[in-house]
Amino acid sequence: MPAQNVLVIGLGYVGLPLAIQAARSGFRVTGLDTSEKIVAGLTAGRSHVDDVTDAEVAEMLAAGFLATTDEAEAGPQDVIVICVPTPLSDADGPDLSAVRAAAQTAGRLLRAGTLVSLESTTYPGTTEEVVRPLLEKASGLNAGTDFWLAFSPERIDPGNPVYGFRNTPKIVGGLTPACTDAAEVFYGQICDQVVRAKSAREAEMAKLLENTYRHVNIALVNEMLIFCRELDVDLWDAIRCAATKPFGFQPFYPGPGVGGHCIPHRPELPVLQGPHARLPIPVRRAGPGDQRPDARLRHRPRRRTTQHPRQGGQRGEGAAARRDLQARHRRPAGITGPAAGPQAARPRRSGQLPRPVRARLAGRRARHPARGES
Ligand SMILES: NC(=O)c1ccc[n+]([C@@H]2O[C@H](COP(=O)([O-])OP(=O)(O)OC[C@H]3O[C@@H](n4cnc5c(N)ncnc54)[C@H](O)[C@@H]3O)[C@@H](O)[C@H]2O)c1
Repeated sequence: MPAQNVLVIGLGYVGLPLAIQAARSGFRVTGLDTSEKIVAGLTAGRSHVDDVTDAEVAEMLAAGFLATTDEAEAGPQDVIVICVPTPLSDADGPDLSAVRAAAQTAGRLLRAGTLVSLESTTYPGTTEEVVRPLLEKASGLNAGTDFWLAFSPERIDPGNPVYGFRNTPKIVGGLTPACTDAAEVFYGQICDQVVRAKSAREAEMAKLLENTYRHVNIALVNEMLIFCRELDVDLWDAIRCAATKPFGFQPFYPGPGVGGHCIPHRPELPVLQGPHARLPIPVRRAGPGDQRPDARLRHRPRRRTTQHPRQGGQRGEGAAARRDLQARHRRPAGITGPAAGPQAARPRRSGQLPRPVRARLAGRRARHPARGES
């Protein structure tokens, strides 16, 4: 059986690792990107993505990979995966212009039997209500009968040495069960485990649930650090102890912003404000890209004795890695340095703490006047 064609639209942090995995699995892979620079770099064997080495790009090129900015070079495709950005719009909502443009491109390149999979993070309903009509209009074919359409959220965790594209379970949710079948067959060849969602909407919701969970919990633990500094408590030690509970608790650690590298920079939270959804209250409070705790996090807690597990016992090592990650993703620094860029942190007055906490802190300061804020 001849190798199937796979077109990856958007060759960034999500698209490039996927292209590599597909090439390794025997697919004939084409990558389409609007950036001449990225295409030229990949064609010359240079990776612009930290988790992908030049050697892996060279291996993919040797397997027949073609990077291009010209869709005419791509030709008809068996599988088209859309991995384009979904940044914030000026109105703080999801900007789906790249998804729309990619869907129109995909519509021109698909044929009967093609699977189109959307991986860009977005709000529930996008696959069916935004992407589907564009594909159908451009192709003249019907999704669910003539071609297959699914959503498969990306779960990439840049810098994670344990979980990569291959061994992170992949959720797939199709417009119809047959669409889910097609997505399961494709991803089953490039991932170890495929998880079927009831439909594309549940797959979209699963991604939002994961990101909201992470966002809320990092926001929570960042707030906890502010309390702990005021109360002279070593939060890392408290987390270490709490994490011994075998059920009902998962450790999160204070970090820059409120959601790893992705949430402050990208629209995971604002996309909840898509046409159908409302933000849960704690999420609204934490806010997209809310950097408030960072001003406090710049100063390490006075009595911190326990190392963050990812710091590997080397104080500063994790911080350096975080700085690097931040620089790579062009976002303000938080825990290790002064905030920069448009979302620079503003110090939060303790007057904004809940009233009972303020009262306790006032009493404590009265009893220990020497313990001022450093
Ligand atoms: N980076 C992550 O860790 C991560 C994790 C999970 C989900 N996501 C989501 O995946 C999506 C892609 O993220 P990313 O980090 O890969 O973005 P990225 O900016 O690294 O890469 C996107 C690429 O798409 C290209 N592009 C933009 N418009 C295009 C178009 N119309 N046609 C072809 N190419 C186009 C850009 O030039 C860029 O190279 C986003 O929705 C993001 O929220 C990212």
